[in-house]
Amino acid sequence: MGKWLSRIHRGNLFVGRRLLCSADGSQTKARTDEDGVAAAAIQILGKTYPRDAMTNVTPTIAELVGRNLHLAPHNPVNIIKQRVVHHIHKTYTNRTGNALYAHFDNVPPVVSTEQNFSSLLISPNHPARSKKDNYYINNEVMLRAHTSAHQRDFIQMGFDHFLVTGDVYRRDEIDRSHYPVFHQMEGVRLFTRDKLFENCSDKTVGLFEEEGSDMATESRDKQAMHTLEAVKMMELNLKETVVKLVKDLFGRETEYRWNPCYFPFTHPSFELEVKFKGEWMEMLGSGIMRQDILVNGGAHDKIGWAFGLGLDRLAMLLFDIPDIRLFWSKDARFITQFESVGIDPSTDVSFRPYSKYPPCYKDVSFWLPSQGDGEGFNGNDFCDVVRSVAGDLVERVEEKDRFCHPQTDRTSLCYHITYRSMDRTITNREINTLHNTIKALSAEKLGVEIR
Ligand code: PHE
Repeated sequence: MGKWLSRIHRGNLFVGRRLLCSADGSQTKARTDEDGVAAAAIQILGKTYPRDAMTNVTPTIAELVGRNLHLAPHNPVNIIKQRVVHHIHKTYTNRTGNALYAHFDNVPPVVSTEQNFSSLLISPNHPARSKKDNYYINNEVMLRAHTSAHQRDFIQMGFDHFLVTGDVYRRDEIDRSHYPVFHQMEGVRLFTRDKLFENCSDKTVGLFEEEGSDMATESRDKQAMHTLEAVKMMELNLKETVVKLVKDLFGRETEYRWNPCYFPFTHPSFELEVKFKGEWMEMLGSGIMRQDILVNGGAHDKIGWAFGLGLDRLAMLLFDIPDIRLFWSKDARFITQFESVGIDPSTDVSFRPYSKYPPCYKDVSFWLPSQGDGEGFNGNDFCDVVRSVAGDLVERVEEKDRFCHPQTDRTSLCYHITYRSMDRTITNREINTLHNTIKALSAEKLGVEIR
């Protein structure tokens, strides 16, 4: 499984990514903001939220909220969004000829933990909730980790077919394909019995099993209450919808394959891989929605499917963009290259790097705070310290070495950091200053001892 998986959906988390105990991040020290707002508060999109022990949104991340690359003119993420929406709108219309799917791309990323997790049946102690992987504003609100956070709410508002595009936030490693913010599009479609079986002459076939029937148990193929006929029809419809879209984006000859996978909010679940330039890449997670989500949204008599599509990665592939940080660059040499790119694939361009600026490499080694294997420290905490000091000048953070001292039982870690600007040549001197600040801040915030 590639690293990409976590950028598209949470597959790796939901199948039990190693759960580490989270260090407290960099947000618990008393502090006063410039405008005098007490350390007890954090501001996002003009709103003030109380901090608590869960808070781990750093100022660097808070500043990215509201950039909305999916709404920014000519940004490749926006171009891909428009292509997908255009395809869905022209392919699926209602009986009056209007677009079947509603599209929402203006839903703010601040959601409750109830929306992000509980509304999707993710249990209170599920590892997907880990502070190590998510950006919490406090115990109750967070930056959404996926657009699925809005499924139940739009169903509740009465929508049976909708797309939701937005920025999503996940704590992660740092390299050319990982950024703490990326973009997803959620697709949901609900069917009534009559709609799903409209071309079927058998009027007895339904969506739901009789309670107590032999078939009313969960199996590999279906949830307990669904009929196998309904689930198979839904699966075909979901897969056909997604494959049509993929062929429209990548070309009719595109090779693809479906893999079974697991999400707490769909069953059965399927993951799509597409072959692009000779390599298989995971493109989306999808499945038949857990019936409880529909019931909670007031659509108990319907059945639904959902998919979650990662946009940044698609854009990197289609336009040959080598580093995810480029999407965020304010350098005109980036965005102007996409000014003539429209919805039609014939307008495609390959990104021309405006020369590759030289990197600067630095290592940092430290002893972890606790005895033993350093439980309580995790790499994502370190990455957030690095980001908050050096921002987009960091290209990559790699764990280079880890050992446990046989006598003292202390663990030592060494990270190799690649610094490189997308827009200019950096100097060793400026990087030294940043690197030293990273060392000092790591000691202060994470309790490590620099070697
Ligand atoms: N929300 C999932 C993710 O981000 C993707 C997904 C969406 C899976 C809808 C199934 C259904 O990983």
